[in-house]
Amino acid sequence: MSPRATKLKNNFVCQACAHQSPKWLGRCPDCGAWNQMVEERQPAPAARSRSGPGPAAPPVQPHREIATSAHDRQATGLAELDRVLGGGVVPGSLILVGGDPGIGKSTLLLQAAFALAQAGRPVLYVSGEESPGQIKLRADRLGDPPANLSLLCETRVEEILAASEANRPAVVIIDSIQTLAHSEVASVPGSVSQIRECGAALLACAKNKGPAIFLVGHVTKEGVLAGPRVLEHMVDTVLYFEGDRQHGFRVLRTAKNRFGSTNEVGIFEMGGEGLREVTDPSRSFLQERRVGTAGSAIAVSLEGTRPLLVEVQCLTATSYFGLPQRRVSGLDYNRCCLLLAVLERRAGLTLGSQDVYFSVAGGLSVTEPAVDLAVAAAAASSLKDKIIDPETALFGEVGLSGEIRGVTQAPRRCQEARQLGFKRCLLPQAQADHLPPLPGLEIIGVNNIQDVLTILF
Ligand code: TYD
Ligand code: MG
Repeated sequence: MSPRATKLKNNFVCQACAHQSPKWLGRCPDCGAWNQMVEERQPAPAARSRSGPGPAAPPVQPHREIATSAHDRQATGLAELDRVLGGGVVPGSLILVGGDPGIGKSTLLLQAAFALAQAGRPVLYVSGEESPGQIKLRADRLGDPPANLSLLCETRVEEILAASEANRPAVVIIDSIQTLAHSEVASVPGSVSQIRECGAALLACAKNKGPAIFLVGHVTKEGVLAGPRVLEHMVDTVLYFEGDRQHGFRVLRTAKNRFGSTNEVGIFEMGGEGLREVTDPSRSFLQERRVGTAGSAIAVSLEGTRPLLVEVQCLTATSYFGLPQRRVSGLDYNRCCLLLAVLERRAGLTLGSQDVYFSVAGGLSVTEPAVDLAVAAAAASSLKDKIIDPETALFGEVGLSGEIRGVTQAPRRCQEARQLGFKRCLLPQAQADHLPPLPGLEIIGVNNIQDVLTILF
């Protein structure tokens, strides 16, 4: 290390968590990672100093005169993606799509590229990870390649920007930001400073000339996007593509959206020919249900603004070890333990000597409190070995004293249950009182967990 380097401020940055330090450290004091501090190049001092009169004041624009047409959205052709983006891609926006490896990010964006190109919009698909031959192999599974789709296998960001300038695509897709390198940054691709510089260069390109840019981002073990947090602040939209790889269903969620709501989710299913949009998710999640088994309850959950019926399953078995097991998949572990305690204390069910396993069918993950009622009902059903009527759906939050509390969007949840052929719906009493009657669906208001068990069994 040169003596000069130690004099500069914030000269070393951790590749794992972006912690900055004025001196080199073997171990990052923030995240504890070893050998991750890398020296960052400082801008030349001459570039910083300002001599002579300052720059002329830039012209400001009256708010009223700003044309809104610049925000015309372009539908991607994938309705689920459009829904998550808030109705389509805004020209000049920067969209970051994160997700675990192998979840289907490349497939999703290649399909979006196909659909956009088929709709007559020129698309440039840039891959730093795959060769044209590999992309072609994947693309062959998706159908005939449209004429407007161009490929570029490149990792140098300057070259990508030049290609975008020369071809003027409406949308550029970059797979992935972690493979890009800026010639003025010395560190390796994927490092914090590279991601930040490349992100800034792409942002400038998107805001100046107008192509919307999709960036694929890898996530770390902890499930957050790799690289500096500043990248998430820079971009307009952050999407996460999630799902259980053992199951076909994939959920696209918005973590941030400057041009739309963050409440929407898009649901896809991975198949032999790429991703299929799931337009009727409740039906898909319930289709494998085995009617007539104890320990199964149907919850009316809400994903974003969309009601979704999911099957909550529970299995209780006598525990032969000192400490009974609780295993939960697709639900919140602490919430499930709390509901078991409520059942034990408020409804007199002896669950303390039982191993309890919970899961949500279809590999889905639901964390909304509205599924409480179904979780509690499934546990009681398994313990009592009594079947819950298969035409009954439930929703409501369960409080610590066993009371059933109201949740959002009760009417929409009931409508969804009715549409899927359910005959009865158990919901919080306070909300049931205000619901207009729905022909074909019996609405049953419940006040506490004891009522629920009396009605169900
Ligand atoms: P991919 O898009 O490469 O994931 P990512 O870019 O997020 O790493 O998708 C990889 C998985 O998707 C891979 O395991 C194979 C599977 N797949 C299908 O099942 N069907 C298909 O038509 C395609 C293209 C991929
Ligand atoms: Mg990929």
